[in-house]
Amino acid sequence: MKISIIGSGYVGLVTGACLARADQNVTCLDIDEKKIQDLESGKIPIYEPGLEDLIKEKVENNLLSFSSNIDQTIKNADAIFIAVGTPTNIENDGADLSQVFACAEAIGKNIKSNTVVILKSTVPVGTCDKVEEIINLVNPSIDFDVVSNPEFLREGSAIFDFENPDRIIVGTKNKNSISTLNSIYKKHLDNNFPIIFTTRRSSELIKYASNSMLAMRIIFINEIADLCEKVGADVEDIALGIGLDKRIGPDFLNAGPGFGGSCFPKDARALVESGENYNAPQNLLKAVIDGNEKRKESLSKKIISITKDKKNIGVLGVTYKANTDDMREAPSLSIIPDLIDKGFNISIYDPQANKVGIKEFENVNWENDIYSVVKNSDCLVILTEWNEFKSMDLKKISDIMNKPIIIDFRNLFSLDEMEKLKIEYHSIGREAVNFNKETK
Ligand code: UDX
Repeated sequence: MKISIIGSGYVGLVTGACLARADQNVTCLDIDEKKIQDLESGKIPIYEPGLEDLIKEKVENNLLSFSSNIDQTIKNADAIFIAVGTPTNIENDGADLSQVFACAEAIGKNIKSNTVVILKSTVPVGTCDKVEEIINLVNPSIDFDVVSNPEFLREGSAIFDFENPDRIIVGTKNKNSISTLNSIYKKHLDNNFPIIFTTRRSSELIKYASNSMLAMRIIFINEIADLCEKVGADVEDIALGIGLDKRIGPDFLNAGPGFGGSCFPKDARALVESGENYNAPQNLLKAVIDGNEKRKESLSKKIISITKDKKNIGVLGVTYKANTDDMREAPSLSIIPDLIDKGFNISIYDPQANKVGIKEFENVNWENDIYSVVKNSDCLVILTEWNEFKSMDLKKISDIMNKPIIIDFRNLFSLDEMEKLKIEYHSIGREAVNFNKETK
């Protein structure tokens, strides 16, 4: 079977590389010719652990190729994935589907009979119907089916997630498509990963509902963390205590600076918009979005109240989470400008952050390692949970800083450790450890 994937971004490339590893014949497409040239010469446009090597290997095995000739490649495809972006539409907070619809046009013009069109981009309920309409309008005589097959890939562990999914969701009732999807995911089925066939609309909604449920858990535990700080309880113990209840489960209960990235914020907004469109308000989710925004404001206030007259702040990690270079909707993008506005000097170290064109960070000082940041700082703020930060030399940091203060929004360290080292330590939902150099 020949598979084409339109959109060589994060989802398209991971899907393409992993399907090639499952012995499928895949061509990844993009209208961006420069990106395709880079990919052909082995340059990968994103940081995703393991992806570069996997792509190289599968290109060498002739199972994976790249092309910007979308029309020609579609003509030869038996299955076409659409994996283009669906960013927030700034006019209504819904999803901007222009790239998906442009794909549908191109597919309509070039598709051969009996091809399956698989929508992997995250789209509001009803979008597959619209894609079908567009293809039908452009090419009324062709026989095809549009299937929904959302992705559930976490940046940083996307290859693992693709190859070890909790479930594969496929929205179609068409027998030929069911058989095509079963053969695309044959390796997964052989390994007993569950594949759920449902309607297209249910499949589209499963994706939004999953991300929104996870986002809700994060805001819930963050609000519990705020209460813990007020009443002297420990959010880590609360997460453990509630997570052991099998009905709740332990995941996505890490309190932190709020959620960011290319999915949760955008998908939560789009589901609220769908709710408005169909007169089924998503009130819980509205509160989640609001809670996430307010959290960023409250964290800069917290930093300011701790640092008081000290003006040099070192920030460790600015991406929205560890193991990615992605800055989209990262909490740092609101927290750092707030601090700059209040007259703080900011130094940053991040192992991978994509620094290009981030207007929010115009006046910051980028350093190349943790300890260069420490040298210039009265206070360290940890925003992402990179392993490199978890294993940093706290004794060295304590020696370099005059009166060491660490504000840790990822709860990377134990309170005991900080007490022993006499580091003033403020984390999330736990008691503060208050010391300074004089008490050493
Ligand atoms: C998410 C979904 O997990 C994935 O299934 C979907 O397809 C794409 O969106 P991703 O955005 O890569 O993946 O990141 P994820 O690891 O889910 O984290 C999202 C955000 O929540 C990050 O900002 C992260 O720091 C935050 N988070 C996550 C918490 O604050 N606490 C947690 O316990 C988990």
